[in-house]
Amino acid sequence: MHHLSALRYVLAAIALAGAALAARDDILIADFEGATYGAWKTTGEAFGPGPARGTLPGQMEVTGFEGKGLVNSFHKGDGTVGTLTSPPFRIERHFITFLVGGGMHAGETCINLLAGGKVVRTATGPNDRPGGSERLDWHSWDVRELAGSEAVIEIVDRATGGWGHINVDHIMQSDRGSGVVERVSTLAIDRDYLSFCVPAHAGNRAQVALAVGGRVVRHAAGADRETASWITWDVSRLKGSRAELRVSELPAADGACPLADSVSLGSEVKGALIVVDKLYRETYRPQFHFSPRTNWTNDPNGLVYYDGEYHLFFQHNPFGIDWGNMTWGHAISTDLLHWTQLEHALHPDKLGTMFSGSAVVDHGDTAGFRTGAEKTLVAIYTAAGGTSPESQGQPFTQCIACSNDRGRTWTKYDRNPVLGHIAGGNRDPKVIRHAPTAQWVMALYLDGEDFALFSSPDLKTWKKLCDVPMPGTSECPDFFELPVDGDARNTRWVFWGGNGNYRLGAFDGRRFLPETPPLRSRYGANDYAAQTYSDIPASDGRRIQITWMQGGRYPGMPFNQQMGFPRVLTLGTTPDGVRLFFNPVGEIETLRAETRTWRALALAPGANPLSALEGELWDIDALLEPKDAAEAGFVVRGARIAYDAKARELRTPGGSAPVRPEGGRIALRMLVDRSSIEVFAGGGRWLICFCFLPDPADRSLALYAEGGEAACAALRVSALRSTWPE
Ligand code: FRU
Repeated sequence: MHHLSALRYVLAAIALAGAALAARDDILIADFEGATYGAWKTTGEAFGPGPARGTLPGQMEVTGFEGKGLVNSFHKGDGTVGTLTSPPFRIERHFITFLVGGGMHAGETCINLLAGGKVVRTATGPNDRPGGSERLDWHSWDVRELAGSEAVIEIVDRATGGWGHINVDHIMQSDRGSGVVERVSTLAIDRDYLSFCVPAHAGNRAQVALAVGGRVVRHAAGADRETASWITWDVSRLKGSRAELRVSELPAADGACPLADSVSLGSEVKGALIVVDKLYRETYRPQFHFSPRTNWTNDPNGLVYYDGEYHLFFQHNPFGIDWGNMTWGHAISTDLLHWTQLEHALHPDKLGTMFSGSAVVDHGDTAGFRTGAEKTLVAIYTAAGGTSPESQGQPFTQCIACSNDRGRTWTKYDRNPVLGHIAGGNRDPKVIRHAPTAQWVMALYLDGEDFALFSSPDLKTWKKLCDVPMPGTSECPDFFELPVDGDARNTRWVFWGGNGNYRLGAFDGRRFLPETPPLRSRYGANDYAAQTYSDIPASDGRRIQITWMQGGRYPGMPFNQQMGFPRVLTLGTTPDGVRLFFNPVGEIETLRAETRTWRALALAPGANPLSALEGELWDIDALLEPKDAAEAGFVVRGARIAYDAKARELRTPGGSAPVRPEGGRIALRMLVDRSSIEVFAGGGRWLICFCFLPDPADRSLALYAEGGEAACAALRVSALRSTWPE
């Protein structure tokens, strides 16, 4: 007997009531047949001057709409953004039904129902990748529990990339649902497991989402499977909370909703289980890398160390699995390994959503924000004007916020912005303390390939120092000084950009004098917007960096994207000149569960000395000697990390690097997590970070040589423990 009888009873009762009542006439909300939007209000450009008459220039053929006109936000292409909002109306029927097509970007290309100022229902088109179709299909929201409320409909286009538009037509109130039907119900979570059965061939029009306190904590979209499949979520951590369950699906011909009707809460995992979704233990969840509990993340922000805690703020979408609603998420760690996610730190406001930035400890209380015993942490961030409905018409500006309680709560400065708009989408301030001149210095991305430095006595007033051109690079600067080969009397300043290109030079507190063109640091496909820690104590002295492993894929996961493993940056002399070196922080050694070592290991073609090992999490250190082999390397769960001796190239599924042997040897350090591999080659000179999606059943590890004999002068293979609590 399933525990969810109460919920099922309610759903069944609703279905019966719907069938039994004589259906009243439909009420048309809008058919978009006129030349203008009438009483509907637009912002931005995407919706054009009025409803479109079908397909727009440059668009695939739009079909499935009614009559001649429809809402089509492809006006001037995908690049335009805007909103279209209805006048208020009263909810008087069981369903709101409409035709929808275009992009599937939650929160970005969507139609929303707002009641009491809150989004209570939302829907997108079906497309999130190239190809697809511009057909509109029926979608219905079950709005029975909102009967009598005043509502508005808002159609949103905030996306500018592929499928960055939405099409809508013929919105009505009706007692009958048409097409995909979305049901919302509340659920008291008092059991460990929530199970449901996704019908065969459901596709991504079948979706189940569980939200607590307005936040989606679990989400699944149907796949195109041949057979129906059960999914069980572990919801034990949510016990005691009231959740909102949203189920959308295309009902069967007889009106049955097999997905919604299959939902049950219970103490056991259901029949033919395909996923047990235990938080932080999910199939593709990184086990020693940071990823947000749920939803989207991109850049690391505000990396600062204060009194025993490493703070990691991060670009987060609290409401969706894709980019949007930029808010600063927050996590802390005492060892750079085990992270605890805290409340969000910075929320969007009328100046914009919260884009990337940095944080510092204001040791001397230069800003005058300090109120108690704790030193003040100051965050310096970009308010991205125009990226939220409340900030339309605002430019991108730089703002500050402070915390006097160890980063637990944040107050924005009441005279923000502290640095007004300068150019384009200027953003991503990275602030450092320049001790010799006793001032704050900000590196800022301006526009195109232009960056600049600014200075301030108090973090509140800024003046420009100089421009820093970074050909081939944009976004997310960093700026720091490092000794060369560990010699404190011989230092260089590093000016770093979003794609990991950096210039070395001198800095006197006023001008950065570059000595090199932008140099390449990164050879892996998933490594972007890295930032280094502020305020690492001098006794430690490390320059610690965290990157965003941009672009990984995590199908079916409640989160999207992960950070790279924290790495230490140093400068070393090479035959090419002074270059950056990257190595994982030493703290990783504490995660080693079991270590095996070999010396002078011969590698013959066809043999795998590691065939007895299997697992998912590894820290591997090898001194590979290609000798006569054409190729030698590792195969990790199917991913080949291969050194091509003739081409002198290290190849991985996520990028290649021109690695030179030293004394006939290639030093390879590799960190392997469930969905990522980071390769530090040549003592950290060449960095290849990439994401992969191994077959969960493949736990193999191989060391191999091809086309001749090779060897491993030294090899250490350590199995790692997960950093998430059992
Ligand atoms: C880099 C970036 C930044 C911006 C942020 C927005 O990935 O585009 O320039 O501040 O992401 O999320």
